[in-house]
Amino acid sequence: MSDAKVRRRFHPGTTVEDLKAYMGPFADRLGYKFNTDAEFVDDVLAAELEILEQTGDVFCPCRVRTGDPKEDVKIICPCIPFHRDEFAAVKKCWCGLFILKDVEDGSELFGVIEEPSGEVEVPVFRVEDLPPGQIRHVKVGKHDVAVARVGDEFFALSNICRHAFAPLADGFMDGYFAICPWHGWRYDVRDGTTDHPDADVRTFPVSVRDGHVFVTVRVGR
Ligand code: SF4
Ligand code: FES
Repeated sequence: MSDAKVRRRFHPGTTVEDLKAYMGPFADRLGYKFNTDAEFVDDVLAAELEILEQTGDVFCPCRVRTGDPKEDVKIICPCIPFHRDEFAAVKKCWCGLFILKDVEDGSELFGVIEEPSGEVEVPVFRVEDLPPGQIRHVKVGKHDVAVARVGDEFFALSNICRHAFAPLADGFMDGYFAICPWHGWRYDVRDGTTDHPDADVRTFPVSVRDGHVFVTVRVGR
């Protein structure tokens, strides 16, 4: 492929160390770290550099590109935000380049793992990424979730207003209430209730650990 067709996000001569410096802090915010096996990490990143040379971007070395840009953007490394629930369920990204921060030995996470099912705690962001009194949207697998912070408490509820489907995280917080941005319906973030009949929204369990916020969802069957 000629240089003219390549969308260069990285300067020519990008190295494995450059990729580590670029990806590491981003993965850290998402609750992940590089695999503890440094040789394996270098091998995967070297493979990404080869792909970068061929395609102009760091597509995943363990996935097949479809040619559809909308699909393939979901496998540009680090692809963690697109696959939060799947990765949290197996404690690693598909390739094993990234593992959850609390995993001590990443070498046990190489290779294919059975398709998980059941409840999984998914890291969504760091505590300091959401100031008190704020609400923000996160995509957790197929769920659109609004995570709200009241003081030092965190809550998660469906992001979709039951009135006319506005994104609740585009609204604002009033104490324990998320106020819909479109017509002002109020949802109690503690239990998803609203004072409109049959219009409560779903809530999700939230936990905070080691400076990270986790939302629990179901994966698989
Ligand atoms: S699966 Fe891992 S190595 Fe592959 S793109 Fe996603 S984060 Fe990168
Ligand atoms: S869409 Fe939420 S109040 Fe109308």
